[in-house]
Amino acid sequence: MTTFTNVKGENKEIARQYIVDAIRNTKRKSGEVLSLPASDAIIERKLYKHNKSLTYTLCERDKHEFEKLMNNCRNTFLHNSKFYCGDIGNVILSAERNQYLHIILDYCGTVSTFEYEIQRIFEKGLIQVGGTLSITLSKRGCNENFVEDIERRHRLSSNLPFFERVERATIYFLEVCAILFDFERVEYFPYKDSRLEMMLFVYRRKK
Ligand SMILES: C[S@@+](CC[C@H](N)C(=O)[O-])C[C@H]1O[C@@H](n2cnc3c(N)ncnc32)[C@H](O)[C@@H]1O
Repeated sequence: MTTFTNVKGENKEIARQYIVDAIRNTKRKSGEVLSLPASDAIIERKLYKHNKSLTYTLCERDKHEFEKLMNNCRNTFLHNSKFYCGDIGNVILSAERNQYLHIILDYCGTVSTFEYEIQRIFEKGLIQVGGTLSITLSKRGCNENFVEDIERRHRLSSNLPFFERVERATIYFLEVCAILFDFERVEYFPYKDSRLEMMLFVYRRKK
């Protein structure tokens, strides 16, 4: 499994700030955050500067990265967090309605890999009203069946470069979830990070 190596990417920093700003703009201040902090928990530390009332469930599936995270959290505000070494999909699967105020899926992976767990968050209302869902996704590595399926359902042409089809399919997939389950998009930031074409989406639950 590859370890996250682009901690200092410039656009990554802008994406982090969008996530932090959306969370800061939430009226409710205390609640639980489910996130993928890698070893440095940069977003969580930024959030702490503005809000000391959030609690965290921190997930990391890479064992080496997880050990570094545990070490880095010692003697910090994060030491009381729930730590899970494994796939965040398992946490999402066992979560209850309204369990989290915010979920930050900084996957940097592709949508087709996480389709079902993302859909479940919307469908099961795992985020409280007013809370946010942030997702970072890469345009690379997307399963062609996922793209073709969305194009068929929405009668879209396939006459575009594959990356553009992936971007459009990802937007359609998330927008349909949002409309069906009463979320609104508050941010869309397509960006390049270490030559990877990335997309950040932030949604807020309306009711
Ligand atoms: C892009 S990094 C997170 C970066 C961090 N949020 C930051 O701002 O620097 C993604 C991390 O999550 C882990 N990860 C990715 N997908 C995961 C999954 N489905 N379950 C658990 N960990 C995952 C990766 O191993 C990696 O360390």
